[in-house]
Amino acid sequence: MSGLILLDSVDSTNTYLKKLAYEDAPGGTAVAAAIQTAGRGRSSGNSFISEPGGLYYSYLLRTSPLSPAEASTLTAKTAVAVVRALDEFIPDSAGIKWVNDIMLNGRKLCGILTEAGHAENGLIPFAVIGIGINVNQSSFPDEISGKATSIFLETGKKTDIRLVADAVTAHLDYLAKHLADDSAAYFEEYQARCISIGKNVLAIRNNTEELCFATGISSNYGLAVTFSDGRKEILTSGEARIRGACGYI
Ligand code: BTN
Repeated sequence: MSGLILLDSVDSTNTYLKKLAYEDAPGGTAVAAAIQTAGRGRSSGNSFISEPGGLYYSYLLRTSPLSPAEASTLTAKTAVAVVRALDEFIPDSAGIKWVNDIMLNGRKLCGILTEAGHAENGLIPFAVIGIGINVNQSSFPDEISGKATSIFLETGKKTDIRLVADAVTAHLDYLAKHLADDSAAYFEEYQARCISIGKNVLAIRNNTEELCFATGISSNYGLAVTFSDGRKEILTSGEARIRGACGYI
């Protein structure tokens, strides 16, 4: 591991670390900020609310160059690494909503945004794994209140954010080392912790919404679903919302 860069405030830890990655920062470099002024997400207009109390963190994964197929499993394996880290603070409670949101009691605890470096000869030289974990927030802005929770709201205890960052780093260091040789273990654990399986989900793709039933995870971490007309598909992109504390989230 190459150390954690701690910042009071940054636009986005992913943007900051990507710049370092292109300047040849070593794998294992990680950045954490107390707040982000332009945190990025995968949905909600692509912004990620990043108020004090959360961990806003990015990790540079630089293994041997990855094929697009290998890189596409990274995001799900990262979800496994993050639930393993969260087990140290809220044992066995967090679940993975396909593909890589971490949920607790029907609310979102953590979001993950993995961004690949530009491919060279068809191979991906590095990935910046961005993770936002709600740690000590006692409330959330209106847009997400009811949909989000924090370790504090679930346990009633304040947690040292640096300890959460260190736990995440340890599990990502392990992932970086075992990306090639531990695939079966990650896949099994992903299935065991995935809360989407066996639920009615709202599939959202290309601005269309369709209810379906999630039956399992395919070998490439797609979500196997059956639609009400009997059609079966493997979802590999978009979102599959599950019914949470406040409607489908
Ligand atoms: C999502 O659920 O939409 C993904 C959110 C990812 C947020 C994290 S916070 C640290 C890193 N920096 C960013 O700008 N985004 C990710």
